[in-house]
Amino acid sequence: MRKKIPLFMILLATAILAPSATGAPPAGLPKSILSLRDLAKARGIKIGAAVAMEPLFSDALYRETLAREFGMITPENCLKFRSVHPRRYRYDFRAGDALAGFAADNGMKMRGHTLVWHESLPPWLIWGIFSREEMAEILKEHIQTVVGHYRGRITCWDVVNEAVEKDGRLRETIWLQNLGPGYLEDVFRWAHEADPEAKLYYNDYGAEGMDQKADAVYRLLKELRARGVPVHGVGLQMHFEVEKPPNLEHVAANIKRLAELGLEVQVTELDLRIQEPVTEEKLAVQAGIYRDLLKICLAAPACRAFMMWGFTDRYSWIPDFFPGRGAALIFDRDYRPKPAYYALREALLTEGAGNRSRKSDRR
Ligand code: XIL
Repeated sequence: MRKKIPLFMILLATAILAPSATGAPPAGLPKSILSLRDLAKARGIKIGAAVAMEPLFSDALYRETLAREFGMITPENCLKFRSVHPRRYRYDFRAGDALAGFAADNGMKMRGHTLVWHESLPPWLIWGIFSREEMAEILKEHIQTVVGHYRGRITCWDVVNEAVEKDGRLRETIWLQNLGPGYLEDVFRWAHEADPEAKLYYNDYGAEGMDQKADAVYRLLKELRARGVPVHGVGLQMHFEVEKPPNLEHVAANIKRLAELGLEVQVTELDLRIQEPVTEEKLAVQAGIYRDLLKICLAAPACRAFMMWGFTDRYSWIPDFFPGRGAALIFDRDYRPKPAYYALREALLTEGAGNRSRKSDRR
């Protein structure tokens, strides 16, 4: 069963946290108030955020808000190939270890992101000349070293990130070009050897609904499962625009068909960017989309986690990558909860969404 939230929690949360009509809520929330993390736990789901290392080290409010509100974290960048494996024979686990330490100190789970991607590669790999055998050896060693290093500490990995194009073909990455399509099977097996307990995910954007790309990801996963490849879940990134919201029925249908393959699903990188100027109306629309997506996840027994790509608009990749857009997350630049924050609370407190039975309650 997706857990029901106890009545006392509903009363406590709604009584104290109704947004005041007289003004913005204070920066940060008192510790006594039930957090998103507490409410999510009561519903049997993880709620989480990607973490940037700079503010983790330098900004106490960032650390406090993160630890209070979220039960799962993932590194925004520090476990990408270029960061963790900067030289052919040198790994740098300092940032990842610091993050794993933060997770352990605060009783949080940690997702790993990401092992096989066409971006964030180190120059030695991009410019080096390697035979097919050497490339396979490099990738296998990379995966097994990183997964092995975090064995038992990282419980779930984005093994492959963004391997499919919009039109459904396999992306022409350095990995496809050098290793052929069989790499998709090999990398999951290698990761599984390094940590047989870890849940292994395929993660992508633009494959949330029921279109060409989502169909291709579905077929890929179906084939991998049929061949006995150890892939356990699909990450739906969900980088959406408030002005072009996702089709909710399609998202629910996609999660359902992926679950029918025996896969878990996680929302892995949700953010909802807004075209400037940001207005109250747009923030309200944004809140509604956050709420609806969480409700879909709660209603699907296979949906295990709801992760956002950051949590405060102070540190978000959006303005850099999508000029003219911003305000994509659930806390504002001063750590004040936005309407989206309250909308997520509302979804977590809403009975009815998601009381279907679950096959198992794995981590
Ligand atoms: C982004 C980070 O947020 C940026 O800081 C970095 O410069 C580029 O990568 N999909 C993913 C993430 O899987 O790894 C990306 O993160 C955002 C899109």
